[in-house]
Amino acid sequence: MFFLMKAVILSGGFGTRMRPLTYTTPKPLLPLLNKPLIMHVIGSLPEEVNEVIIAANYKIELLRDYFEERDLDKEVKVVDEPDPRGTGGAVKNVEEYLEETFFVINSDIISSIDLEEYLEFYRKKKGVGAISAWTVEDPSEFGIMDIDEEGRIERFQEKPAPGEAFSDIINAGHYILEPEVLDKIEPDRKVSMEDEIFPRLLDQGLYGYEFEGYWIDCGRPSSLFKAHRTLLDVEGKKTLIGEGTSVETELGHHVSLGKDCALEEGCDVSNSIIFDGVMIGRNSTIENSILGYDVMVEEDVTISNSIISDQLYIERGKEIIDEKLKPEEMDHD
Ligand code: GDD
Ligand code: MG
Repeated sequence: MFFLMKAVILSGGFGTRMRPLTYTTPKPLLPLLNKPLIMHVIGSLPEEVNEVIIAANYKIELLRDYFEERDLDKEVKVVDEPDPRGTGGAVKNVEEYLEETFFVINSDIISSIDLEEYLEFYRKKKGVGAISAWTVEDPSEFGIMDIDEEGRIERFQEKPAPGEAFSDIINAGHYILEPEVLDKIEPDRKVSMEDEIFPRLLDQGLYGYEFEGYWIDCGRPSSLFKAHRTLLDVEGKKTLIGEGTSVETELGHHVSLGKDCALEEGCDVSNSIIFDGVMIGRNSTIENSILGYDVMVEEDVTISNSIISDQLYIERGKEIIDEKLKPEEMDHD
């Protein structure tokens, strides 16, 4: 049987851990292999998902613009929250669109999960929801859970204090939920799904779905790098060069260059993420760094372990090491 389903993609939040990049771009639109994070998530949705609801607030106009200009094979609705309502409040805010079993997915997760198989797993269980599960070494930044032999979640706790985690299995950020779960979320206020709702659903049956491959929460620049390297490796590519980009130099490993960039001769670029419209002058070195949209780098510059915000101009001969340069308009704080 073929069902039609909806998927809510959690796309709000300020992306504070991803600053300075999120001063100008909301986290779901940050490019990874020249495609916004959220498009990696949308691309992983099964065929039966015919409608995507983007629950957003911070810089929502940029998300609206992005989806208005694109023709996807699924209907996309970008829905505004009056104020950031947290992960539970965000789902409650789009309740009117949800009548059947639905997905909720964090927009910052890059993983090899097969959502079709996940759905099959869930449909064999009798419960009100499921949470994808992944094992990590240090679970303190995540939600943790205990899962029994039948896959049922027995305990859930969000962000345990270091050393106090009862499990190394974490909430991997993909949920399948029944509409009745929405009745548990109080309207018109900020609600955390993980703190307030999941622990209260355990009695009714929440299931943990474990999978293999890779999983990365792109919450901070270091994890965006990890995702960048992982995906290039998975695709068997050393570099990725966007449309309209000219490169007059040999590129090092793990480099992605956006659209309409220009790299002059003698540059040494490796392990870096370069957004659209970036110019890099002769004999400049860029390593382990992220260069935002339309950054202009003059000749003989060295940028290492750094993040350069959109549109900044880097003078000839400058050395930028271990720095995070904010956009000009934010310079006062
Ligand atoms: N609409 C909306 N409104 N979305 C929000 C809001 C909000 O107020 N706050 C956060 N989000 C979105 C973020 O954009 C992200 O896609 C998702 O909800 C999760 O928020 P994060 O801020 O990335 O949470 P986290 O990474 O600290 O923790 C969450 O994800 C982990 C897995 O990556 C939790 O769900 C953990 O339990 C989980 O292990
Ligand atoms: Mg996250």
